[in-house]
Amino acid sequence: MMPSRRQRTFLLAFTLLCTLWGLGYPLRCEVCRSDGQKCSGKLKTCDSDKDTCVIMVGESSTKGHKSVGTIKTCMKSKDCFSGIVSTTMSAHDYMVSNTHCCQTDACNTGSLPPPPNNRTENGLVCPSCVAPFRDSCSGSQLARCVGSESHCVYLSGNVHAGIIKPKFATRGCATESVCNTKAGAEVPSITYEYYLNRADCLPAPRPAGRGE
Ligand SMILES: *[C@@H]1O[C@H](CO)[C@@H](O)[C@H](O)[C@H]1NC(C)=O
Repeated sequence: MMPSRRQRTFLLAFTLLCTLWGLGYPLRCEVCRSDGQKCSGKLKTCDSDKDTCVIMVGESSTKGHKSVGTIKTCMKSKDCFSGIVSTTMSAHDYMVSNTHCCQTDACNTGSLPPPPNNRTENGLVCPSCVAPFRDSCSGSQLARCVGSESHCVYLSGNVHAGIIKPKFATRGCATESVCNTKAGAEVPSITYEYYLNRADCLPAPRPAGRGE
C-alpha cells in the first residue's frame, strides 16, 4: 500500500526534524584497529571536537618489516583528507594509505580498497631521516621518490602510543596530498596516532647533474 499524502508529509517533516535535531549533536563512528584490509568494532560517540568519521587502509614498511592495517576512528574534519597518501623515507621505510572521511553517524562502517603501492622510482630525491625520540633530524641521507611522490616533507611531533608520547622527526618523499596536513594536526596511522608540530612540504628539487 502506498503511503497517503498526509503520511508522506509527516515522514518528510519527521526526517527534516531529525536532521536539524541532529546538528550539533555528537557524532557516532565505528572505532577499530586491526591488521589486514578490514576491521570492525563498536560504534562510539566522538569527543565533541571531533566531527568526522574516518576509515584508513594502509601498507607500511618499517626497516623492511611490512604490514597492512586498517583503522576506523573519530577525527577533526580540518585534519582529515580523503584520498591516497604515499611517503618514502628509504627503500625499507615507507607508508601508503587510502583514507575516506565522512560526517554522518556510522558512515565509516564499510571497507576501502587498499592504496596502490607503486614502488617504481621516479627520478626525484629528497633529504631523508627517521629519528625516533628527537624533534629534528638533518636529512643527510637521500630518499629516492617512487610512483607519484613529487614533494619533500619534514614532519615532527609526538607519537601517541598509549600513555607515553615520545617525540619523533622524519624527512623524505611524499605525494602532494601530504601538504594538506598542517602543523597542529592529529593524524591517525595504521600503527599510532601522531600529533604534528611541524609539517613542511615543498616540491622535490630536480636532481642535480642530469642535464635537464
Ligand atoms: C609507477 O610510477 C612510475 C614512476 O612515477 C610511473 O612511470 C608509472 O607509470 C607508474 N605505474 C603505474 C601503474 O601507475
